[in-house]
Amino acid sequence: MKDKNKSKNLRINLADSALSWNNIEEKKSDLVKIKQLLLSGEASFTGWVDLPESFDKEEIERIKSTAEEIRAKCDAFVVIGIGGSYLGARAAIEMLGENSTGPKIYYAGQNISAAYHLELIEEIKEKEVCICIISKSGTTTESAVAFAILKDFLIRKYGETEANRRIFAITDKDKGVIREEARRRGYVSFVVPDDIGGRYSVLSAVGLLPIAVAGIDIEMMLDGAREIAKNNSFESDIAAHYAAARILLFDIGKHIEIFESYEPRLFYFLEWLKQLFGESEGKEGKGVFPASLQFSTDLHSMGQFLQEGHQIFFETVINIENPQSDIIVPRNAGQALGGASMNDINRAAFLGVMEAHRKAGIPIITIDIPELTSYYFGQMVYFFECACAFSGYLFGVNPFDQPGVEAYKSEMLKVLGVKG
Ligand code: PA5
Repeated sequence: MKDKNKSKNLRINLADSALSWNNIEEKKSDLVKIKQLLLSGEASFTGWVDLPESFDKEEIERIKSTAEEIRAKCDAFVVIGIGGSYLGARAAIEMLGENSTGPKIYYAGQNISAAYHLELIEEIKEKEVCICIISKSGTTTESAVAFAILKDFLIRKYGETEANRRIFAITDKDKGVIREEARRRGYVSFVVPDDIGGRYSVLSAVGLLPIAVAGIDIEMMLDGAREIAKNNSFESDIAAHYAAARILLFDIGKHIEIFESYEPRLFYFLEWLKQLFGESEGKEGKGVFPASLQFSTDLHSMGQFLQEGHQIFFETVINIENPQSDIIVPRNAGQALGGASMNDINRAAFLGVMEAHRKAGIPIITIDIPELTSYYFGQMVYFFECACAFSGYLFGVNPFDQPGVEAYKSEMLKVLGVKG
């Protein structure tokens, strides 16, 4: 399994995008300059660029051994975080599945619903539990509230000393209340690197620790990312081509990008993509609005709009070329498709939708992924991170900050009467 398809990489297909190679080349000089900037290390928050290559081997070993310790110690592992501190790990775990010999992975602090958190505690209360608080700033309300509740639950269940052994923290190396608390209470902790923002942190401890706890091979993931990082010339840099295509489509009035997949396991990957592009690009009145649809499910709700509605969008389909499992429709079930493979039917839906949407004049970009493995997850993450950085800079915005997110936070704190 390990090396299977390794020579085959993620690919981008622009044949149905309404764009030609000449169009993409129009952006070449800008993209080459952006690439130089990204590789120079001079722009802030670009620590993710050489992360797959430069990741400290000892830190990887520490992540792996801590994950093994957690896997041995508990049967419920709660990841507490929101946005970039949670979506990447969840995207990987939902896409690749949890290894059944380890704990079940739960999520907290990604909303502020009392009902959700009460249900979670009810579900885990009889289990052996470990929790991991992930927050770069250490000040995010959603994760701070969930952490307070789950820490209290652990202390009541195990007492302070054992609770401290069951709490793991991933946060800034010096700043913030979580770092201070981790030192004081002796939590095993990891660092969110200074020069990496939340949504670009999947391939740091932020994503890798929970992913390793789920039993997924994180070294293969980094290998996959490294493979995409080799695409250095403009001609081979598919992330740059994709970014150019997005901007060119935006310029002809396609202001919405709909990420689509025919595999429900990709639901959280599409959520991560929306965050990555939305938070990176949506500023100064600019940016492609990122949306997502799951097919064929959403064809029965949004299919009509796509086919005949206001044509202000383009589609980016994540196509899994070799699904790993299949079901044959029973022959005796009286179905016209008795004996057919379910994957073939899903593929027919993909090809049929492509044809119908082509006829409707919708620009379609296809990203082909050979199969769903940790290696290709690494490729997907690194490809989209690069594309997002290129695309943000092409728009003329800083793809690594999120000043607008602060607005709701400070208004919420005012309502609560709490000083920010
Ligand atoms: O991408 C980002 O920077 C954000 O989505 C953050 O990850 C999110 O707001 C959570 O922040 P923190 O890790 O500081 O709790």
